[in-house]
Amino acid sequence: MEQPKNDVLKVKGLHVEFQTSHGMVHAVKDVSLEVKRGRIHALVGESGSGKSVTSLTIMNLLAGNGRVISGDVTLNEKSLLKLPGKEKRQLYGDKIGMIFQDPTAALDPLFTVEQLLLEGLRKHHRMSKKQAREIAWRI
Ligand SMILES: Nc1ncnc2c1ncn2[C@@H]1O[C@H](COP(=O)(O)OP(=O)(O)OP(=O)(O)O)[C@@H](O)[C@H]1O
Ligand SMILES: [Mg+2]
Repeated sequence: MEQPKNDVLKVKGLHVEFQTSHGMVHAVKDVSLEVKRGRIHALVGESGSGKSVTSLTIMNLLAGNGRVISGDVTLNEKSLLKLPGKEKRQLYGDKIGMIFQDPTAALDPLFTVEQLLLEGLRKHHRMSKKQAREIAWRI
């Protein structure tokens, strides 16, 4: 499986707002960040500061009342915000995944972590269980 070394996820000048019955909520104000392949980053901030909304925007999972008013999210300079459905399905779960805030709901306790990693790899790439296992143990 091809493993480019230079994948870069960028959030550039992101602004997100929500329409609510109490008016507009400007949830994310001018967030920019960069994540390179193989690097570990933490997004830190007080409750309500927009960490989840930023992450959900990266995942293209913004709630129906939410809207990106400006800015962009790119992977290797390609915008992720207006991808057609097919490209979204190819990308998410392969290049970019998310473990949601409640890990007991996001990770099925009936499966081992290895099984969960193997499922994602084999859904996106034609490979044997043995090959997937080798990659999973390298991740
Ligand atoms: N669907 C929504 N409709 C309206 N407002 C929303 C919606 N989702 C999030 N918000 C608002 O956006 C702001 C940012 O919320 P967010 O959940 O991103 O914060 P957070 O930094 O992840 O907080 P926490 O540390 O508590 O998880 C908050 O004011 C929140 O109330
Ligand atoms: Mg949150």
